[in-house]
This record gives sequence, C-alpha cells and structure tokens, in this order.
Amino acid sequence: MENQSTILGHPKGLFILFFTELWERFSFYGMRAILVLYLTAETTDKFNPGLGWTSKEALALYGWYGMFVYFTGIFGGAIADRWLGQKKSVLLGGIFIIAGQFALAVNALPSFYTGLFLLVCGVGLLKPNISTMVGGLYKKGDERRDAGFTIFYIGINIGAVLAPLIVGYYGEMVDWHLGFSLAGFGMILGQIVYVFGRKTLSGVGELLQDSEENRNLMAQPLTKIEKDRILVMFIAFLIVMVFWAAYEQAGGLMNLYARDKIDRVVFGYEIPTSFFQSLHALYVVILGAPMAYFWTKWRKAGKESSSLYKMGVGSIIMSIGFVALMAAAYEVSESALNKAPVYWLFLSYFLHVVAELSLSPVALSFITKLAPMKYASLMMGTYFAITGLGNKAAGLLGEAAQDAGEMAIFTGITVFSLLLGILILLFVNRLKALTHGAEEITN
Ligand code: PHE
Repeated sequence: MENQSTILGHPKGLFILFFTELWERFSFYGMRAILVLYLTAETTDKFNPGLGWTSKEALALYGWYGMFVYFTGIFGGAIADRWLGQKKSVLLGGIFIIAGQFALAVNALPSFYTGLFLLVCGVGLLKPNISTMVGGLYKKGDERRDAGFTIFYIGINIGAVLAPLIVGYYGEMVDWHLGFSLAGFGMILGQIVYVFGRKTLSGVGELLQDSEENRNLMAQPLTKIEKDRILVMFIAFLIVMVFWAAYEQAGGLMNLYARDKIDRVVFGYEIPTSFFQSLHALYVVILGAPMAYFWTKWRKAGKESSSLYKMGVGSIIMSIGFVALMAAAYEVSESALNKAPVYWLFLSYFLHVVAELSLSPVALSFITKLAPMKYASLMMGTYFAITGLGNKAAGLLGEAAQDAGEMAIFTGITVFSLLLGILILLFVNRLKALTHGAEEITN
C-alpha cells in the first residue's frame, strides 16, 4: 500500500485509528468507571438508585466482565481472518458497542445483561482488529512502526483519562443511565471518525481476495520459521499476562488501598480516591512521547533494543514499582494511624507506567511483525485473550490479599516480575533468534 500523505511523519490512517480508538476507550473506561458504583448503589436511593448488590457480588461481576471483554478477542480475530477482514470487523464491533451502551442506559435488568453481552462481543471484534490495522499501515521493516503504536497508545489513554471525569461525573452525580448514554455517544463519535476517515485506510485491514493464489496460501501449513515465531510470541504473552495481573490491581485492590490506607491529604486538600483511577492513563499521556524518544535514541546508539529486551526491562521496572508499594505497606504497619504517605502511590504508579510503555505498545507492534499473515488477527486476538486472563488473575490476587494481607501479595508480585524480567534478559539472544529477523529494520 502507498502511504502517500503523512502527518507527523506517520501515515494519515494512523490518526483515524487514533481517534476511533480514543473514543472507543472513552466509552469503555467510562462505563467501567461507574459499573461497580451502579451495581452497589442502593435501590432505594432517591436521587440515583442502583441495583443494590453487595460489594462482593459487584466485584465478581466486574472480574468476569473484565475477563470476557478481552477474551472474546480470540473470536473477533478469527472472524476477521476468515470472514470479514479487520476493517469491517472494527465497524461491526463499533455498532455492537453503541447498542450495548444504550442497552445499559435503559433501566431494566434484562436490558442491563443484554448490554454487557453486546459490549463483550463489540470490544472483542473491535479492539484486537483496530490494533492489527495500526500494524498494517507500515511495511515490513519500517522503522516507524513502534513509534506509530506509541502514538496510538497515547490516543487510547487520552480517552481513558477523560472518561472517568465525564462519564463518571454525570453517571454518579446525575444518573447512572445518563453516564452509560454518554459512553454510547463517545462510541458514536468514534464511529463517525472511522466511517468518514476510512478512505485513508485503503488496502489496510481487507480480507485477502478470494483468488486461487490466496486460497493456496491459506491452505499452506505453517513453516518452521512461522512456528518459531509463534512460540516466541507465546513467551511474550506470558510476560504480558504477569504484567497485567500486577498492573490491574489498580482498579480493585489498590483502589480500596488508596481509600483506606493512604493518607491522601496534600497541602490541606484530600485527593479523592477516584482520582487515582485516572493516574495511570494520565502518566501514559505525559510519558508516552519521552519514552518513545528514549527508546529511539537508545536504538540509534546501537544498544540492544529488541521488543523482547524492552519487555524484560518493563517487567523489572514493574517489579521496582511494587517495591514502592511494599514500602507503603511497611509504613502502614509502622504508623500509628495505619496510613502511608501518598507519594508512594504516585511513585509506584509512575513506575508502573514506565514499565507499561516499555511493554504494552511494544507487544502490539511485536505481534504485527511476527504473526503469519493468515493468522494476523487471530494472534492479536489471542494477545487480548491473555490480557483478559491477566485481568482475572488480578482480581484473584486482590481477593487473596484480603486473607494474606497486602504485603504478601506485593512481595509475591515483586519477586515474580523481577525473576521473569531477568530470565528474559538472560535469554534475549536465544529468543531473538526464534524471531528469524522479523524485527530487522530496513529503512
Ligand atoms: N490501557 C490499555 C488499553 O485499554 C490496557 C490494555 C492493554 C488493555 C492491552 C488490553 C490489552 O488498551
């Protein structure tokens, strides 16, 4: 495909995908910000009644939703490879998401469950396929690919910063159903950008033509090189699964921890707990560009900069981020008030995001470099499914902390991420050999 016109040195289509995904994430994180609050609000509340569930029930639903919404990526990917192509799958996914959010906006239980179901299907169709399309904008060996994914990732997080503020505010303060509708409107905006901007994506995300040649191509068994690459992708999946299991503590355990065990008063003002729900995304928006710049410099200086190396480094930085939480847990146990100073939380989330930026956009880019063509979307879908399992594991760890205590969980995560990171760095050359030069930059 020709990437004729560019913006900031990247194909124009990147910015269409950027804004589409920004609004999809706005919709996703907006809904997520109020889900548990809505479930647990009293049915008898005069101003804004909810469903009156217990916290335990609500968190259980939240955990399952968090898993399925990404797990269905496998099906979304398979559907794109086989029947629809990525471009149409994204369109269809967007329609499902809009329908899902407006179903939640209707105040009736059957409609609520239908809404969740539609969202799970919609995100499964949209999220992995839009990510694969970003990769499709760059030719093999194009050195801009990683940076393109970082830009895309910044878009994701702009949506994630705004959503809790807007959807969260109107949902909580005015009406839950208004909140879900706003999430739906967000996705409508995304869909408008996508429909009108699709021209810039010509040749990207299309299903292979039904020709003799392509049918033969699809029927070919995988080669040894392709199998090696799939193997190394699964190793990368293991890293990201551990990563998300640690990172996604933020929404559950860390949310409660921030509320109960952190002294949030700064200059006489108490920072609301929910602010910390936007902190990760805010850090990504701020640190995304400098981190991408850093890794580009690093590579130009001739230092090791393969994706696996960055992921290993990310895993180690994550582990350091949890050391900061261990320090907080220690201070809680030592302090008379049972609280730790808030800077530990700022520091730890900062490190989590430095780790995230070394690992998450890199993983997306890596998959688009390595996946065999006929399974391009399926591999991406599998990555999201693994993320879904990571999310579920995060919930289970949070539950375990209720008995074992936070310190035990923080320590476990620290040690595990550290060991995994070190192992990856030790074997990075061997793992790289399995990619058979897929990461070589040619321009
Ligand atoms: N903030 C990321 C996003 O919403 C988190 C994530 C990464 C989710 C990878 C799924 C998979 O895209």
